[in-house]
Amino acid sequence: MLIRLARDDDMEDFVRIYGRAYEGLEEYAYTTRKEIKSYFRWLRKRDSEGMFVAVDDSTEEVVGFVACDTNWYSSFEEKEVGEIHELFVEPEWRGKGVGKALLEKGIEYARLKGRDLTELWVGEKNYKAREFYEKMGFKAAGSWGHWIRMVKRI
Ligand SMILES: CC(C)(COP(=O)(O)OP(=O)(O)OC[C@H]1O[C@@H](n2cnc3c(N)ncnc32)[C@H](O)[C@@H]1OP(=O)(O)O)[C@@H](O)C(=O)NCCC(=O)NCCS
Repeated sequence: MLIRLARDDDMEDFVRIYGRAYEGLEEYAYTTRKEIKSYFRWLRKRDSEGMFVAVDDSTEEVVGFVACDTNWYSSFEEKEVGEIHELFVEPEWRGKGVGKALLEKGIEYARLKGRDLTELWVGEKNYKAREFYEKMGFKAAGSWGHWIRMVKRI
């Protein structure tokens, strides 16, 4: 498995894997093709160097994405942070370290850009992701509606 910078032509893989990754978690996700495509474009525009893709090096199949936004101003911290807007892995590829490798890449990028904190919002009933983030050293730091804010100093 290798991790590379995302490109504009990764949009189709993003739409396909995003749809599969959020099955059962639709209350926290975009559900139409149109919304997912504009979300991809929005993420690319927010920070064009902060989106990374995990690729199976033997088949060149794309298996996951992370999007870190180092231009994000956190009103909680009153400064720019590395905002992990998105992280997902193809269901068949879970539990193999792909999510961890992608998250570490996003964090490394935020650090390179001089950020000292990463922030993200996870659905309150998305227990698997919450456990995953806790394992990765994130701590809950507030909530808004059905979202839990999590942060990690980097
Ligand atoms: C959350 C997600 C990205 C994790 O990806 P993954 O590739 O399965 O995670 P990894 O295999 O890298 O796991 C890394 C560590 O977290 C742990 N972990 C992963 N899923 C876990 C779970 N459901 N419960 C507890 N621990 C978990 C692993 O055991 C592993 O620990 P280790 O390093 O000690 O072995 C993936 O489940 C996913 O795509 N979920 C749907 C989309 C989503 O909810 N994204 C987050 C939105 S905020």
